[in-house]
Amino acid sequence: MTTLTTLPPSALGTTSPSPLVSVRGLRVAYGDGPLVLDGVDLDLFPGETVALLGSSGSGKSTLMKSLTGFAPITGGSAHVAGHDVGTLRRGRLRGLRADVGQVFQQFNLVGRLSVLTNVLTGALHSAGPVNAVGGFTGADRRRAMELLDRVGIAHKATDQARTLSGGQQQRVAIARALMQRPRLILADEPVASLDPTMSHQVLDLLQEIARTDGIPVLVSLHVLHLALEHSDRVVGLRHGEVLVSAPTAELDAEQLGVVYDDPTEAHDQEADDADR
Ligand SMILES: Nc1ncnc2c1ncn2[C@@H]1O[C@H](COP(=O)(O)OP(=O)(O)O)[C@@H](O)[C@H]1O
Ligand SMILES: [Mg+2]
Repeated sequence: MTTLTTLPPSALGTTSPSPLVSVRGLRVAYGDGPLVLDGVDLDLFPGETVALLGSSGSGKSTLMKSLTGFAPITGGSAHVAGHDVGTLRRGRLRGLRADVGQVFQQFNLVGRLSVLTNVLTGALHSAGPVNAVGGFTGADRRRAMELLDRVGIAHKATDQARTLSGGQQQRVAIARALMQRPRLILADEPVASLDPTMSHQVLDLLQEIARTDGIPVLVSLHVLHLALEHSDRVVGLRHGEVLVSAPTAELDAEQLGVVYDDPTEAHDQEADDADR
């Protein structure tokens, strides 16, 4: 039944798990500025990949930051893996952040360090300072190597991270996120710096991780066709409001066009492809 896999777990009846992330009426404003998120609702279920689609400035990064306590929540609520983010103090915030693996547009690796060491730093989220000073255990190293194998670049383990291609660096960043044993992965524009072939590979990998590991992956994208090809559900933001929230299988490009101020932006990567 291929249709079942395209539905959110909430649609699967009595066996549906509860959402790992539940956002209700979320409002965020920076300082005295205007509302950047204005009444956002979002559920993320284990195993699903949700594409967060929207123009630049629509609030995608802010929504992701609000799930890890990095955005000023001024109304509504965000529950993540049992934490009520808006009420967490610093100690508990650290616990929440240890549960959330993050992947960024610019990979955020330490370029002069080896690929393996970059992956190992993912273990520091849960380790205390003693372990950070004392070095990594043999078990950590074995696990990091296994994860590099999983993302297809074990053969680069001893290379300096900066010598790798963009797509390879993003795989390292994904392995580093997995090293945390995350309960949720947030990927903020993870393919915006990659060419189309690499983009598809990285998004396939994220979707495979969500399914295999049974964790939610929230991936922000601003290119429409990538969202349609690599997600189970799409949430479309415009000016801080959710305009679209539906299973990807039920959506087409025309329906998603409403999230853009400028319709040409929906396809900008395709335009870039044509230039190459
Ligand atoms: N730290 C900040 N301080 C003030 N305004 C911000 C900050 N971060 C983002 N914004 C504003 O919030 C809006 C949404 O930004 P952002 O969440 O980065 O959108 P996106 O990721 O979709 O491009 C934009 O108008 C942006 O200028
Ligand atoms: Mg952003």
